[in-house]
Amino acid sequence: MKSFSSHDSIHFDSSRTGNLATASQSVPYHSPYVIDAQRLTRVYRSPAGNTYALRGVTLRVKQGEFLAIMGSSGSGKSTLMSILGCLDTATSGSYYLEGEDIKTKTDDELASIRATRIGFVFQSFNLLPRISVIRNVMLPLLYTACPVRERIPRARAALRAVSIDEKLFDHMSNELSGGQVQRVAIARALVNSPALILADEPTGNLDSETTDQVLSSFESLHRAGRTIVLITHESDVASRADRCVYIKDGCLYDSVAAMHNARKVV
Ligand SMILES: Nc1ncnc2c1ncn2[C@@H]1O[C@H](COP(=O)(O)OP(=O)(O)OP(=O)(O)O)[C@@H](O)[C@H]1O
Ligand SMILES: [Mg+2]
Repeated sequence: MKSFSSHDSIHFDSSRTGNLATASQSVPYHSPYVIDAQRLTRVYRSPAGNTYALRGVTLRVKQGEFLAIMGSSGSGKSTLMSILGCLDTATSGSYYLEGEDIKTKTDDELASIRATRIGFVFQSFNLLPRISVIRNVMLPLLYTACPVRERIPRARAALRAVSIDEKLFDHMSNELSGGQVQRVAIARALVNSPALILADEPTGNLDSETTDQVLSSFESLHRAGRTIVLITHESDVASRADRCVYIKDGCLYDSVAAMHNARKVV
């Protein structure tokens, strides 16, 4: 798997974030944490009863960290990812993204944060099948102030960063293999130079060889300074991150032993 090189970065608009290789310069605030979440709870209320999906989750993620959140089905992983991704709000607790209090944001501001500062990668790739690979990657740029002339160079750089062969850039996305499609989805998450890449079970639909390729892409982005939070229920996948926390019944733990001792992450 090719690592990201400085050559690839020269096309990127450095006005907000620098480029892929210098993502460590991208935090415009003084907080050392991209994610600073304290005592998050999320209660789903319904006539049938309440579901306590998160029960006081505290999590801090520093700029440039590659964190895995591991837990079994129903443990609260996607609920937590939705809150960290500003797709949902916590029932209680606080969440600061790059030092900014998410609670104070309007819906429009949250939409802007999602479009420009968070890159999402999901288990189901969500690429548009009938448009080319490069146009899929350019899509998030339509919702930003990125000048038209910079869209193609940025999309090309993002695709190179995840080792997609140039020959594939103009192929339709439904002509690619599963591993290639997921790497294109990662390039799409990356194209805005987001502060945070959030991946929810990104290898859940892939065989072990393509899983390895996709994880190598995340490792390469991590080496280039990106901040990545990867959610998984597989220990092999989690072991590729540089830190792993564990979620069970809506509580987060800093080690398996802590989970067994029911001690929460502080
Ligand atoms: N919209 C919702 N309404 C009611 N309950 C929900 C909702 N979304 C999730 N839940 C419940 O909250 C709990 C946590 O769900 P969540 O989807 O976060 O788990 P998960 O760890 O992502 O699971 P999986 O590995 O299966 O994706 C589960 O008990 C689930 O049934
Ligand atoms: Mg889930």
